[in-house]
Amino acid sequence: MATQTAPKEYPRFTAGQRFEHIILIVTFSGLALTGLPQTFANQGWAQTLIDLMGGIESIRIVHRILATLLMAECIYHGGIISYKLYVLGRRAIMIPGLRDARDAVHWIGFNLGIAKQHPHLPRFNFGEKFEYLAVVWGTLIMVITGFMLWNPIATVTYLPGEVIPAARAAHGGEALLAVLSIIAWHMYNVHVKRFNRSMFTGKITHEEMVEEHAEELEALERGEKPVDPPAEIIAKRQRRFWPYATVMTIVLVAGLIWFVTFERTAIATIPRQLSQPNTLVDFSAFTGDAERGAALWQTLECKSCHGENAQGQSESMNVVLAGTEISLNTFVDAVRRGPADMHPFSQEQVSDEQLVDLYTWLRSLGGS
Ligand code: HEC
Repeated sequence: MATQTAPKEYPRFTAGQRFEHIILIVTFSGLALTGLPQTFANQGWAQTLIDLMGGIESIRIVHRILATLLMAECIYHGGIISYKLYVLGRRAIMIPGLRDARDAVHWIGFNLGIAKQHPHLPRFNFGEKFEYLAVVWGTLIMVITGFMLWNPIATVTYLPGEVIPAARAAHGGEALLAVLSIIAWHMYNVHVKRFNRSMFTGKITHEEMVEEHAEELEALERGEKPVDPPAEIIAKRQRRFWPYATVMTIVLVAGLIWFVTFERTAIATIPRQLSQPNTLVDFSAFTGDAERGAALWQTLECKSCHGENAQGQSESMNVVLAGTEISLNTFVDAVRRGPADMHPFSQEQVSDEQLVDLYTWLRSLGGS
């Protein structure tokens, strides 16, 4: 730089980076606003918020649109990083190292009055790197658990049913953690301590540089700047980069479309219909066989809860099925829908025909 006096402001973020940040603000706040009331749906304030925002069905849709936008932003961000690392040959400066741990200790020491000098921090200091990585792993957790909640039936065809409530707990827990850390850490660092406008103006003041990025400032004052490789090298790398980036983008966008269109089960609230008769099955086609039913019982999971002989002697539950007085329809319906602590059983797990055999056997046992 040719000027004699030190400039008042230094460039920090490009227009593209600021745009990404705006997308992050919008999606993050929107997801928190439409998501947290779902996590805490059994509480009054959450119900009020849900009603204010137009009801559960509409906030679910908004939540999914914002999630899709955030995932698209992640794909874009991945492309930008790949370009910088590969084509421009930049270093991965957001990955923390030993030096950042030392800076953090030094910084704590300084704040406690033990260290005399504030640490000379680089372009991205330890706190910023930590925050960036928290966004990366937080988003990863939210995308994986979000997929499970969005596509519960697909998920349980490959994984045990317990992963759905586990995914729910992780999704809500990580969301709460993210919101609290944004309020406590990010808000404090960039708004309370000093209102840092660089993410909106793209520029950072000299004073902020001295405190937060002294090392970068010294390098700038020595006239050092990250140099891009010569134009012909860039052109050569670009020729390799673009086909790769195009294929990756197509694959990832296809993955995103697959993610959001896979299954629509979790979109609508389906009322429980336990008492409705199971009209789809024509039971007259089967003649129940008590012996077959008895043999079948020994092979099924039912006995772990309903007891060895359907007498309900399991440790934690005591639901007697022997001599049941419910109708065949109600019986099949209960098995298919899974009342209370019982999970539903599909046709593949136990067929209608087998259920008729079971029912016939259970009825033959008489009352207990
Ligand atoms: C995880 C434990 C568990 C398993 C496994 C299980 N059940 Fe149940 N089942 C229950 C519980 C608990 C209830 C009572 C639910 C309630 O309180 O409404 C129940 C209720 C039922 C009912 C309704 C009874 C009534 O009188 O309304 C039927 C029918 C039934 N189970 C059949 C089966 C069959 C058949 C199987 C195996 C294919 C099975 N259950 C497997 C726990 C289980």
